[in-house]
Amino acid sequence: MEYIPDMKDDVDSWEEVQLVYNSALKEIGTKLEILNDEFAHVHQYNPIEHIKSRIKTSESIVKKLKKNGYDATIQNMVKYVNDIAGIRVICSFTSDIYRIAEMLINQDDIKVVSVKDYILNPKSSGYKSYHLIVTVPVFLSDRILDVKVEIQIRTVAMDFWASLEHKIHYKFEGNAPEHIKRELVECAMMVSDLDAKMLSLNEEIKALK
Ligand code: GTP
Ligand code: MG
Repeated sequence: MEYIPDMKDDVDSWEEVQLVYNSALKEIGTKLEILNDEFAHVHQYNPIEHIKSRIKTSESIVKKLKKNGYDATIQNMVKYVNDIAGIRVICSFTSDIYRIAEMLINQDDIKVVSVKDYILNPKSSGYKSYHLIVTVPVFLSDRILDVKVEIQIRTVAMDFWASLEHKIHYKFEGNAPEHIKRELVECAMMVSDLDAKMLSLNEEIKALK
């Protein structure tokens, strides 16, 4: 059942939204931990370095709705904002990203809403990551809700790049000097080279063992 909040008073509805999305984050977080544990059991290493999750603040949800021309209602939040619940999965190697994504997508209760592969097709900023929007069922006392979660999967190196770029973007309010933008694109290329080298080194080590 698609999650459509009731027309109650706003404070009560916002609390319900947070509860529902927090539950969805817990469901996805547990699925990822189980996959990581099983993978470690079979292959003797953890594909996931760490996981971060967050609920978008009401201020940034309202900002996003307004930017896209929607009224700031609880119904519009749930309908039009796909990243109220966000989870970021940091992997060791690029190959782990695709493995984790596939293992998760193949689970019967997960429905894929969209996939964006910014590793195959990086953004013009240089940004690389694998993005999934999925729904996961949340079992409440009287109903089952399909709740949207944005999952960003990237390597440690991609994450390092993205956090610096984010800070710069924020500092210059999106208008960073051209030479800084250029250097960030160069750094993104170095990140790709580093990821490729680390992957091939790891493959070589595995073959030796
Ligand atoms: P948003 O409105 O920002 O959510 O973007 P979108 O709906 O077009 O989706 P997209 O997949 O492009 O981006 C989703 C999220 O990915 C963003 O909220 C950021 O967290 C991250 N992201 C996308 N592009 C960049 C980028 O150029 N730099 C950094 N640091 N993060 C990015
Ligand atoms: Mg976002």
